[in-house]
Amino acid sequence: MTVIRSQIIGCGAYLPERILTNDELARMVDTSDEWIAARTGIRRRHIVVDGETTADLALRAATRALADARVTAQEIDLVIVATTTPNETFPSVATAVQSRIGMTRGAAFDVQAVCSGFIYGLAVADSFIRTKQAETILLVGAETMSRLMDWTDRTTCVLFGDGAGALVIRAGEGGGDLSDRGVFNTKLYSDGRLHDLLYVDGGPSTTGMTGHLRMLGKEVFKHAVINIAESIEASASASGIAISDIDWFVPHQANQRILDATARRLKVAPQRFISTIEDHGNTSAASVPLALDVAVRDGRIKRGDLILLEAMGGGLTWGAALLRW
Ligand code: ACO
Repeated sequence: MTVIRSQIIGCGAYLPERILTNDELARMVDTSDEWIAARTGIRRRHIVVDGETTADLALRAATRALADARVTAQEIDLVIVATTTPNETFPSVATAVQSRIGMTRGAAFDVQAVCSGFIYGLAVADSFIRTKQAETILLVGAETMSRLMDWTDRTTCVLFGDGAGALVIRAGEGGGDLSDRGVFNTKLYSDGRLHDLLYVDGGPSTTGMTGHLRMLGKEVFKHAVINIAESIEASASASGIAISDIDWFVPHQANQRILDATARRLKVAPQRFISTIEDHGNTSAASVPLALDVAVRDGRIKRGDLILLEAMGGGLTWGAALLRW
């Protein structure tokens, strides 16, 4: 049986040039390189400078992904940007990317699911492709989380970074079995009752200000390992595959301890979880495509590999996606 599959035909990423080290942070708040590295695995993160925006990062990652896919802007039917740090309350970052890549047709919109945004964006892209509403989609995860930090709060400001990653996804034909290239399934979840664990204390219809990120880290941690492991298991079983058949896990990069605990729970070697946390920190919706890009460029992820993407973030939201590269 012939089926339509959302196939990834190119990827790209961009990190701002400015690197903020743990030692620099230790001069700003009461913390240390030892504490941050031991509790999170983070050593450094990239952050934007004055005037540098989420759309700037998104554009650079998108341009690289288009070049990698050898696709022109005019061939794109839809731009989706997963972000929680848009340049402006409206219009979307996606429309800024659309105009800046020179695309004069099709549609563009943002998806907001905080750190799970890229998985949500991939689920939307896959639905548009399978329902023939779009043939070629540019999906970007881009964030300037540094703009949401309270730089006096050591419990949050040491965790986050900025960056962007992008995929070009195109409709392709498959035989309907697990040897196909492309997305097999996506699993999305949320529980809005858990708002208070992770939120931003501002917004257009409350304070009229952007606000700062607030998090009960220990509580979020507890939910993270359980929710992520369950969503991975749900995605694997939806396609009838064993966890041990998955070549690479590309997780949201929140904390190395979450990655290690999830790997232990699933009885998977931790080396099969791609980790960029040391150099990137938590870049929210950008972290999964940034990690993907690193593993593709260094040759770990190869054409034909079975890949599991997963994330959890504010909302709480979480999810997973299974695909063959
Ligand atoms: N430097 C030094 N000490 C610190 C720091 C710091 N940067 N931050 C907190 N501490 C102190 C605390 O005050 C506390 O001190 P106390 O014992 O005297 O009260 C102690 O360290 C331990 O604090 P905990 O919060 O218990 O530390 P924990 O081991 O839980 O680590 C962390 C905190 C890293 C935040 C962890 O809980 C975590 O990673 N949580 C999950 C984050 C996550 O997954 N977020 C989801 C995605 S983000 C998104 O969606 C936007």
